[in-house]
Amino acid sequence: MAGAGLALSPVAGHARAQPPAETGVPFGSAIQAEYIESDPAYRQAFLDYCDLIMPMNELKFGQIRPTRETWNFEPADKLVDFALSHGRKSRGTCHVWWNSTPDWVEALETPAEAEKALVEHIERVTDRYRGRLQSWDVVNEVVANDPIYDGRSLRDTVWLRKLGPRHIPIAFEATARADPAARLVINDYNLEFAGAEYDARRRVMLGIVQQLHDRNIRVDTVGIQGHLYTDHTIDTEALLTFQAELRKLGVGLMVTELDVIDWQKPADAEAQDARAEAILSDFLDAILADGPPEAVIAWGMTDRYSWIPDVLPRPDGATMRPLPLDREMREKSWMALLRKRLRTA
Ligand code: XIL
Repeated sequence: MAGAGLALSPVAGHARAQPPAETGVPFGSAIQAEYIESDPAYRQAFLDYCDLIMPMNELKFGQIRPTRETWNFEPADKLVDFALSHGRKSRGTCHVWWNSTPDWVEALETPAEAEKALVEHIERVTDRYRGRLQSWDVVNEVVANDPIYDGRSLRDTVWLRKLGPRHIPIAFEATARADPAARLVINDYNLEFAGAEYDARRRVMLGIVQQLHDRNIRVDTVGIQGHLYTDHTIDTEALLTFQAELRKLGVGLMVTELDVIDWQKPADAEAQDARAEAILSDFLDAILADGPPEAVIAWGMTDRYSWIPDVLPRPDGATMRPLPLDREMREKSWMALLRKRLRTA
């Protein structure tokens, strides 16, 4: 396995909490409330493939609490019930995210008000799903997009402006209080590629985890989103070092939002999928070499519904193929590879 020869031996005594060895690494996917009833084939795809099914957007701050007076739990309830009633696990994303912060939070005037709103939100939402979600992305995307270019470690967000970096420990402590058994995850993207920008992002992530650890604030897992750009290169050695550093702190790893960003040439399906398979295979080599991650979760199941063509469209307008199943629900070869690697990890 690539990188297995590196001098990064596991620290004795450390074992990741999940999964049970006999079942391999759990595979999961994020699901969307708007399609679960209108599209039976979509719904069935999750039942056919997933050990874990999680709400994609329905537990985000802005969706749950669009106004100060409104708590909108129904779509998330429906999805969590769907997962659990079919014997699947589920998990939560996310309490703190720059891209789901409603206007009423922006309008809060004092740090005390902001802290109260954050803690109240986290406690109420986490408590509602206590015992039903095995982990929570407590903070999502707090690392600056490009720490070198941006000249800062943390992303400039409403929560940072209102509370400073302490919003991060506040969020972790509130989640831990409300559901002591839930694993606490810090989640982010662009942690797997080769390049100075990505080295910087890995350094910042490790720095945050280390600082929480030094202050005795529990963080259990780093979530690597795993939005894989087919024109980027996986940095196996850097990922092994990253995982070894986490292991020293007793922190695990999970892949939380796997999909493929095939925004560059080629444009024919077979060549796109071959590139997807190549980068996924490199990614798995690096992730699985260090022992099993807690789970690998895809950001959707089928190319019918994905955020990628909306947010990161191809300049040539060709059809994108970001997810494990195509629009006709046919399994891609890279999904077969993924299933095999997870089963035998
Ligand atoms: C995206 C969803 O896929 C979209 O449906 C939604 O409109 C916006 O959010 N990183 C994240 C995810 O952490 O929460 C984002 O999900 C995709 C990028």
